[in-house]
Order: sequence, then C-alpha cells, then structure tokens
Amino acid sequence: MTNNQPSPDGILRLINGYWATGIVSASATHSVFTHLENGADTAADVAIRAGISERGAQTLLDGLVSVGLVGLRDGRYRNTAEASAYLVEGTPASLSSFAKLKLTHMNALADLPEVVRTGGPVKQVATEVADNPHWAEVVPAIAAQSVPAATIAADVLRLPEAGAISILDVGGGSGIYSAVWLEANPDARSTQLDWEPINAIARRLLEERGVADRFTCIDGDFHTTDFGTGQYDVALYSHIAHQEGPEGNVEVFTRLRKALKPGGALVVCDYVVDDDRSGPAFPLLFASEMLLKSKQGGTWRRADYHDWLIKAGFEDVSFHSAPPATLVVARQRRRPVL
Ligand SMILES: C[S@@+](CC[C@H](N)C(=O)[O-])C[C@H]1O[C@@H](n2cnc3c(N)ncnc32)[C@H](O)[C@@H]1O
Repeated sequence: MTNNQPSPDGILRLINGYWATGIVSASATHSVFTHLENGADTAADVAIRAGISERGAQTLLDGLVSVGLVGLRDGRYRNTAEASAYLVEGTPASLSSFAKLKLTHMNALADLPEVVRTGGPVKQVATEVADNPHWAEVVPAIAAQSVPAATIAADVLRLPEAGAISILDVGGGSGIYSAVWLEANPDARSTQLDWEPINAIARRLLEERGVADRFTCIDGDFHTTDFGTGQYDVALYSHIAHQEGPEGNVEVFTRLRKALKPGGALVVCDYVVDDDRSGPAFPLLFASEMLLKSKQGGTWRRADYHDWLIKAGFEDVSFHSAPPATLVVARQRRRPVL
C-alpha cells in the first residue's frame, strides 16, 4: 500500500457497524446511560448498579467511548450531551427502547442480499397482517422520534391558535401526535385510525397525558375503512407513506382530501429524499428497511409526494424540514362562494 492510498478505516467501521448497534443496544438494555446520569462513573460502579459483570461493563464503556456516546476524563466516565438527552430512560425524548428493539431486528438483515436479488421481502410483510404483534413492539419504541416532528407540525399549522378543530390521524400508532397536538390546543379533538391493539396502546398514552377525553379511536385497516366526508380540519399520515406504493398513496391521499373540510390540511410526515436521490443520508439508508419489510414501499422523493398530492386533488403543497423526517403539508384552496 502506498501513502497515496486511502485508509481502509472508514470501510472497516462500516463492515463492523453492527458492533455499534450491539454496544448501544446492550448498554440501553442494562440502563448504562441512566446509571451514568445518576452518578456511576467507573466500570466497577456501573457493574454493581446494573447487576452485570465488571468485564462486561468495561467492554460497554470502551465501546461507548469509541462511538462517541461517553466521555472519559481522569479515569471517570460521563454521558455526552447527546447520550444524556436521548438515551437516559424515562424521558419523553428517550430512544432507549428503540435502541433495545433494533438489536432484535438484526437477524432479519441477513436476508438483505436475497431480498435485493428478488426485489422484495422473503418473509411475511408486517403491514399486510391485521393486529400484527410487530406493531405493538415498534410503536412505543418509535414514539419519541415523532415528538420533534409533531412539535414542528403544530407550529407550521398554528395549532395552538386554531380553536376547536378536529384531527384524523391515520396509522397513529402510539398516539404521540395526538398527545402533542391535544396538549398544544385545549379545544382540539383527535381521532386515530389503527389496529385495535395499537389503539389500546395509544389510549393509555393519552390517558397518561390527561387528554384522553378528547381522543377517539377507530379500529380497522385504513385501506378499507371509510374516512368520511368533510369532517376534519387536519389529517395526518405519519410514517405510513413509506410502506405503500405510489398507487396506494394516491388512493389514500384522495380519500383524505375528501375527509377534510374545505381549506383543511393534510400533513404527511416521512423520510423524504431529494429529487435526484443525492440525499439526505438518513432517508437514503432507510430505503433498505422498506425493501426488507414491504412489498412496494420505499423512500419517496419530494417530486413523488408533490405529484401524488396534486393527483389527489390538493392544490398547495409545501415541504418543511423536521430532521431526519420531512413534513409535507397539502391544502385544497377554499372555493369562493358565488
Ligand atoms: C411506523 S408506525 C407510525 C406510527 C405513527 N404514525 C408515528 O409516526 O409515530 C405505522 C403505524 O401504522 C399502522 N398501520 C400499518 N398498516 C396499517 C393498516 N393497513 N391499517 C391500519 N393501521 C396500519 C401500524 O399499526 C402502526 O401503528
């Protein structure tokens, strides 16, 4: 190898990327970030508080220093600001349960070479099975990820000043959007459409937040459940478009437009890629998740969303950044009364 050759370090880090997933997940499983936050600062201390071996604790701390989630100074370990904000348990923004869940998805990744060859999943597709236990595991774990997007959307739609509006959340999952939006607007009411066991999870969250009296659920498959006509001021479709194909999305957007009152807004939240597919980085990688887990899903481009929404009868379409997601807001103009 000459000095002009690039270093293989970056490639080795990628090839061994699953080490990082394992370290972060095992640390979350043993509450290492929470123990560090509460004052543990050596491997021996972490081991005692977590009830794990000291050798194991040292290995986790070494790995966390390596991936930049824990700092080491004068022999004492501390969470970085990022780890404090997002990996300590019991906070609304905590990604700790998501970190634990992702390690359990690791085996499925071994199918990727075959999935790439055939162009679709080799196992059963979660989105096609009613009451699939997959969602009951996933939705509480991903709830924290929707908090920033829900907050930005509330701002974009000026929800706090919107008065007694009605909201429809299709595939609302944990109910996190309804929780954030009903807290932001004390006169709003929200309806979530999802499978029955998932709605039960959402109801518990809304009860915990003290806003369940303004929350209603419809149990069922959104492909076949009627959304109604002219009933809602805001409709939401968050992290669903990526599991559907183009025709499915146009079909749902068309029914959602019909369900909205004149001048109402549809909010689509998803991992959206640039029109030339050059970025952003997170949505580009997320496409592999959809190849593994859906028959027609993907990470769709801004131009796709724009075209589908216009086909569905919307007129104003705007994009708002909510990293790593994008909010697409579509409205149908109010018709002048003749
Ligand atoms: C990725 S989660 C998104 C949850 C939530 N909207 C969010 O952004 O945090 C997908 C949700 O869609 C629901 N879902 C998927 N396919 C569905 C279908 N055919 N009918 C009803 N709900 C469905 C799942 O149960 C799950 O709650």
